[in-house]
Amino acid sequence: MNPHKATILIADDDDDIRLALELLLMAESYKIIEASNAKEVIVQAGRYQPDLILLDMNFSRDTTSGQEGLDILSQLKPYNIPVILMTAWGSIELAVNGVKQGASDFIEKPWNKIKLLNSIKQQLSFARLKDEHQGYRQLLAQEDSKPWVCQSKSMANIEQLVNQIAPTDANVLILGENGTGKSLLAERIHQLSNRQSSPLITVNMAAIPENLFESELFGHQKGAFTDAKQNRVGRFQLADKGSLFFDEIGSLPLSLQPKLLRVLETGQYEVLGASQTQTTNVRLISATNADLNQLVANNEFRQDLLYRLNTLVITIPPLRERLEDIQPLAENFITQFCVKYHKGNLVLNQDAIEKLKQHNWPGNIRELSHSIERAVLLATSLEISAQQLLLDIADTGSNAMVLQPLEQAERQLIEKAMSVSSGQVIEAAKLLDISRNALYRRLEKFDIKYES
Ligand SMILES: Nc1ncnc2c1ncn2[C@@H]1O[C@H](COP(=O)(O)OP(=O)(O)OP(=O)(O)O)[C@@H](O)[C@H]1O
Ligand SMILES: [Mg+2]
Repeated sequence: MNPHKATILIADDDDDIRLALELLLMAESYKIIEASNAKEVIVQAGRYQPDLILLDMNFSRDTTSGQEGLDILSQLKPYNIPVILMTAWGSIELAVNGVKQGASDFIEKPWNKIKLLNSIKQQLSFARLKDEHQGYRQLLAQEDSKPWVCQSKSMANIEQLVNQIAPTDANVLILGENGTGKSLLAERIHQLSNRQSSPLITVNMAAIPENLFESELFGHQKGAFTDAKQNRVGRFQLADKGSLFFDEIGSLPLSLQPKLLRVLETGQYEVLGASQTQTTNVRLISATNADLNQLVANNEFRQDLLYRLNTLVITIPPLRERLEDIQPLAENFITQFCVKYHKGNLVLNQDAIEKLKQHNWPGNIRELSHSIERAVLLATSLEISAQQLLLDIADTGSNAMVLQPLEQAERQLIEKAMSVSSGQVIEAAKLLDISRNALYRRLEKFDIKYES
């Protein structure tokens, strides 16, 4: 398919906009079909199977939520047609949501012609590649394989330790703040162990209702209790010859701890409703961000249970304490998200790298991944700048935020956005995800200086 002969569906309720787009795209020899309401978009997509759809986010004129666009987007999913969202000025957040939910790209109205044509060209050639080349599938598959970064000294030490202990059957307790990579490390230990060909079964201890705990872990037989309509296989049996990962072990209620302790001490358990005793053959890996020693001191966690779990302890340091890992991690995420969102090869500029190293990362690697995902989505050139990382705004988020009168907080956020965007009202409004006029009104109200 020659991309210039491609058929494009223009979906917008505004006649003038459809006409303007039609003229622009016909001049580039695209074939055009149109839809002026939500229902028509789906009908036209089904009838003509266009190569690409330009989709407005808000069909009814009085709405700006974009929910309608997102609904249509989800209905278009089965067609597997690239969709470029057209968003009203200042609704970046909405566009980002749309792309996360499957749109290929977004373009702001009023559009920049060159940008729009480039995006169309790029999405059409990606779609072609996807259809034609097996290689592309391999590239997509890379998305699923998770790279392991251990550049810093502390992570290199952990890596060495993991290589040593993974093949043993010793129980491992992984400690670390949220998002430091505990779950990924548990997977890694399993993969490097002699049990890799058997399953790794995860049990989130915070998520099991108290009354189902035994049934989840040990299984039950039909009729063992009122709701036991079928036999159920427990997690210990599912993980047989493999590994069992107890995530968030610190959240296990005290009342349930003896039930777990018994099986860890004796290696034996009974399926609920059955008389035969089973013997476990699992390797235990646990993880928590809680201070288990403190929990023991507070009588919230049993010491004897802790001793069963912590044969080996690995503490993953927070990201702010391993600066050498930040850049390679960020680059990995960039590669990953560029593939996912069909972007070219983006790079971080020097300021962005510095900014990443200065940030405190309360959410650790997960926060870094979200920040990079956003920056990739918002990138307008091949370089990601410090500003696009939006870390200054994030700083005023949950961690740094103190309770204060709402109006005062609003003023602070606006001042911060203005400062991050060097006084550019348009940029600041984007960061705050409000319209330019809404920001002007507030600047006046709080008597904040700006360049008109
Ligand atoms: N060393 C690493 N190299 C590359 N990516 C990593 C590394 N460690 C963690 N990640 C990535 O960071 C993200 C968070 O990791 P993970 O979910 O394992 O953290 P966690 O400590 O289990 O978080 P939580 O406390 O919320 O359970 C994941 O996307 C993971 O793939
Ligand atoms: Mg986890």
